[in-house]
Amino acid sequence: MAKSAISFVCQNCGAAYNRWQGKCESCGEWNTLVEEDITGAATMPVSIRSKRKGRLFALETLTGKSNDAPRLPSGMAELDRVTGGGFVRGSVLLVGGDPGIGKSTLLTQATSLLARAGHRAVYISGEEAVAQVRLRAERLGLADTPVQLAAETSVEDIVSTLSEGAAPRLIVIDSIQTMWTDTVESAPGTVTQVRASAQALIRFAKKSGAAIILVGHVTKDGQIAGPRVVEHMVDAVLSFEGEGSQQFRILRAVKNRFGPTDEIGVFEMTGLGLREVSNPSELFLSERDLGSPGTAVFAGIEGTRPVLVELQALVAPTTLGTPRRAVVGWDPSRLSMVLAVLEAHCAVKLSGYDVYLNVAGGLRIQEPAADLAAAAALVLSLVNAPLPTDAVYFGEISLSGAVRPVAQTSARLKEAAKLGFGRAVLPESARGETGGDSGLVLNTVSGLTNLVAEIAARGNPRGDRRANPDEYREHLPEKEHLPENLPEKNATPARFRREGR
Ligand code: TYD
Ligand code: MG
Repeated sequence: MAKSAISFVCQNCGAAYNRWQGKCESCGEWNTLVEEDITGAATMPVSIRSKRKGRLFALETLTGKSNDAPRLPSGMAELDRVTGGGFVRGSVLLVGGDPGIGKSTLLTQATSLLARAGHRAVYISGEEAVAQVRLRAERLGLADTPVQLAAETSVEDIVSTLSEGAAPRLIVIDSIQTMWTDTVESAPGTVTQVRASAQALIRFAKKSGAAIILVGHVTKDGQIAGPRVVEHMVDAVLSFEGEGSQQFRILRAVKNRFGPTDEIGVFEMTGLGLREVSNPSELFLSERDLGSPGTAVFAGIEGTRPVLVELQALVAPTTLGTPRRAVVGWDPSRLSMVLAVLEAHCAVKLSGYDVYLNVAGGLRIQEPAADLAAAAALVLSLVNAPLPTDAVYFGEISLSGAVRPVAQTSARLKEAAKLGFGRAVLPESARGETGGDSGLVLNTVSGLTNLVAEIAARGNPRGDRRANPDEYREHLPEKEHLPENLPEKNATPARFRREGR
């Protein structure tokens, strides 16, 4: 009998220590170390180790014949878009997301569709009883599909059962945190168990050729063994996101060995399960409030698909010593950057204002191309200007205040034209690559100062939102200082200019 090895394993990142401590030095989290017996996970019994002679294996060349990864389309176009064309045989996919976001619903639908198409599809639930899964399938109208269902948690039992008969094409394990294997001693849900169970299932996938989907809960505080530790073991990691209060759900590839990682799949949670949304722009713009100031429509690209989404800004006088900057759906450091550029190069003073920025519909934007739309929304909110409701914005803002070109201009313009927009505000240098056939009026800006001048010049603010409309006017640059096509360097405020240059 091998001596048991006790270790203290961080439940957040998996780092192991041989004594307890309050803080994990590897990931910096507090109170995440849990005592675990890692016998078997890390070491092999001495009897096996000493006797086993290495087996000979063939070494291959890179130029050998390799079959294209055979894929199994799920029948849900949005899911296939994210996986890169369907589940790859013998691969393991991890689907992460907050509890209640709809992971079980999504995978019940996917398994049912595959079973209906004649494939052997298995759904193993470690969290719910068979009756509960049946109830959900009934609610989704999929109760008649030949899915093979079980409520099991022992990995050995699952592997033995599924090795019988025809090899399954798809196996869903809901969730990996509930699985346990005899080979390690730790309690289910700990990092060691999650890792060992995932390893066993990955081995089974490779051997049988089945595609396995592991469901993983992500908890905000990292107390429960997150699926983080299995991320590097699996072939693809998808994250299912959405605001609890919103109906939209977004499936995003975080890692994908067999496909792109920048595609998103958009779903809507309805009373009858998840509905695929093939034209997300229409969805994200469907609840636009056309009368409100401080909004700008951003023409973005998610993967290969253009997505139009509304950015909403609120700039309000602050009552705090340090004004608040809050942002939902965008990178807070990019917001700080845009605010700094507005202050330094466009003389827009925002230090006395709280700034809130929100991406409508629960989408999370990662593109720097959203800078221009964010800046426009902020300035529009500051001056309470009448809205140009027919314009889309895109362009990256550099620290010098210049508006830089972004990729895929024509795809963005085409989508905007399709949805009935009449005008696009875009970087000067992008004019060449538009193809000129979008039918939109192109309003090019070379620097952020041009945009600010244009908005400031758009006439009188409506003045109905604030008690005193003159209150904010001092925070904008004087109009005469901002001629229409001001060269970049002249826009630098005097205090930044050095004498004698
Ligand atoms: P679920 O798939 O159980 O979430 P997860 O597995 O990620 O924890 O879905 C939970 C939520 O989805 C639940 O709050 C109810 C809602 N829901 C619907 O709105 N419509 C439906 O048809 C179904 C099945 C669930
Ligand atoms: Mg679930």
